[in-house]
Formats: sequence, C-alpha cells, structure tokens
Amino acid sequence: MNTFGENIKLTVFGQSHAACIGAVIDGLPAGTPIDMEYIDNIMKLRAPGQSRLATKRKEPDKVEFISGVVDRKTVGASVCAVIYNSDTHSSDYSNLLNKPRPSHADYPAMIRYGKNYDLRGGGQFSGRLTAPLCIAGAIALYLLEKKGIFIASHVLSVGKISDVPFSPTDDECELLKNLSQMSFAVIDSEVKEKMSEEILEASKRLDSVGGVIECKVIGLPAGVGEPMFGGMENAISKIIFGIPAVKGIEFGAGFEGSKMYGSQYNDSYYYDNDGKIRTYTNNTGGICGGMTTGMPLIFRAAVKPTPSIASVQKTVDLSKNENTEIQINGRHDPCIAVRACTVVRAAAAFAVLDMLCAQNDINNILK
Ligand SMILES: Cc1cc2nc3c(=O)[nH]c(=O)nc-3n(C[C@H](O)[C@H](O)[C@H](O)COP(=O)(O)O)c2cc1C
Repeated sequence: MNTFGENIKLTVFGQSHAACIGAVIDGLPAGTPIDMEYIDNIMKLRAPGQSRLATKRKEPDKVEFISGVVDRKTVGASVCAVIYNSDTHSSDYSNLLNKPRPSHADYPAMIRYGKNYDLRGGGQFSGRLTAPLCIAGAIALYLLEKKGIFIASHVLSVGKISDVPFSPTDDECELLKNLSQMSFAVIDSEVKEKMSEEILEASKRLDSVGGVIECKVIGLPAGVGEPMFGGMENAISKIIFGIPAVKGIEFGAGFEGSKMYGSQYNDSYYYDNDGKIRTYTNNTGGICGGMTTGMPLIFRAAVKPTPSIASVQKTVDLSKNENTEIQINGRHDPCIAVRACTVVRAAAAFAVLDMLCAQNDINNILK
C-alpha cells in the first residue's frame, strides 16, 4: 500500500521511467481551490536542472489534473494529477540488471518482486516520485496559508557545514516567507556558498554528500493531534519517511534533548502581552502528547548521501553468484537534501492538513 492520510487520502503512483507519475487525492470536498500558479511554483522549487548542484535531468514537471477538478476547483470526485515523464535514459540502467547498486532499493526489491521489478531510474523508489507528493503538498500549503498557518524549510546542513537554525520560540514569519521562495533555501546566504563548494567538491571526487533539512510550522493552534499512534509526530514522521533518502527525524531538541536534565528541558509556560499562553523554551518542538502546544512546530530530517556515485563500488553479480564491482552511469543529484527541502515542506503541509481535519470538519478549513 502506498497511501497516506486518515481524513484526506493521498496515493502516489508511477515509476521513474513509466509513461507518467501522479497523485490521487481522496477526501477533498467539492470547491477546494486548485491554484495552478501556486502549484507550479512549488514544482519549480523541487524540479532538477536549475543549478549545477542538481542532476542535469530536465524534468519540467508540468502538472495536469486529469480528474476531479473543473474550473480550478475540486468537484468532489477523486482528484488525479499526473506528470508525464519525458527525459528518461533507460539505457543507463541496462548494466545493473544483475548487480544491485549499493544503498539503493535494488537488492531488496529484486528479492521482493523478482524479475518484475522495474529498476530503470529507480522504478517506484525514485526521488522522482516526490513530485506528485509536492502536488498534494502544494494544495495543502495553499489551504493552510489561507488559515494563517505557514510552513517553511531550509537546508540546515550539508556534510559538516551548517546554516543558522530556526528560532525555536519566535515565529519568524518574514523569514519563513522568504525561504519558501528559494530553490536552495538557507538562512545565512554566506553558508550557501560553502555548502555549494562542499557539494561540487564531493561531485568532483565522484562522490556525494548528505544533509539535514529543518522544517518549521507556525500558526497552528494548541491541541491538534491524537494520542499514541495518532499523534502529530507520528503523522509527520510517516509522511517524511516516505521521502526517499530520509533516514532520521527529530522534533525540537530531539536527540540532544536526551542529554539534558528535566529542569533544562522542560518548556515553562507564561502569558505573553496578548494574553496568549506560550513557553519560554521549545525543546518539545511544539508537540506534547502527540498534540500541538501552539508554539512553532519544528522538526529536522536527516538525508543520506545520494547512493548513486560515479566511483567504482563493490557489489555482487546475482547471475554468476560472485563478487564484482559496479560503476553507475546516469545523471544524479550530488546532494539530495537541497531538492528534498521543498519536498519536506510540502509533505509536512499534507500531514498537518490531514491532522487538522481529524478534529475539524474539512469544510471549516476551506472557509
Ligand atoms: C528529490 C530527490 C532526488 C533524488 N535524486 C537521486 C539521484 O539523483 N540519484 C540517486 O541515486 N538517488 C536519488 N534519490 C534517492 C533515492 O531515490 C533513494 O535513496 C533510493 O531509492 C533508496 O531509497 P531509500 O534511500 O529511501 O532507502 C533522490 C531522492 C529525492 C528525495
């Protein structure tokens, strides 16, 4: 099953080199606005081919709604959006049929699906499948913004080079709006240069590099979420782990918080000048008991280095049952975290919208 959501359901379909990839969204009420300009803008931020830091594949990611939308509004039927694949080089993968690429899905997928597995371009495990996720996320972002809920993400680190983190307690509304327009989103523009050099150096060495993406949601009321398995952390983690190459997630102080004492960690409450309840610190990342506290919701996702590297690597030849080596051709992102930044933002939006709908009639969210 490849479906996310309890109240609004998203199914992503397709493979990297299939005729198309797409998203089916069920549960959006009739009349939900579909703003094509807004969606295209998000798609452009994720699309490759914009800088020398990304794969040279040209994927314009033109979105077509083939059902459920008339005159830029949903009509209550399942919404289906597709992107036709155009720039596929299937021959790049012919030498891989019996040689699983290290840290790709090839080996477990070959065991699971046998000869029926489509490994061209990573098949259904490709980062390309995050484009439909961005369509759904863009619809959610648009609806949330109308409700005063803003979401932004930035590349917190590339290898060992770090950007300034988000303020855990301040909303930073303007900063979030600025970051949302950047294809390589960082808070400190000088850090961007250093990160770019690190990525290009890795690429020159026929290598790749990982990174961390930080995401912040502001404007959420307190009390959104369900206990135990239905918590906000659960929903966000589930959708974020749906993004290929994400290997870790932490909320608020995360793993560092485990090194603190309770007296250091606890987020003490106070009334601000407007009489609103806030906390002096935000080590919980805006979530307690699976529910939002009304403080900014902050999480970080760890993205592994791109598995496709151009240097020679060890693998096995499944047709000969022997050890061998492999050299991967093709056009790859030397650092996935840069393009995945928009995907994390979009995915978080879809999870947050789904959680909001758990306790609100979705029609209220549209008002
Ligand atoms: C936006 C995005 C772009 C990606 N581009 C590439 C790429 O160019 N080359 C590559 O080997 N992996 C790329 N990946 C990652 C692989 O799809 C992924 O690591 C692989 O399928 C194994 O899945 P896993 O890392 O989730 O275990 C990309 C991922 C994302 C989110």
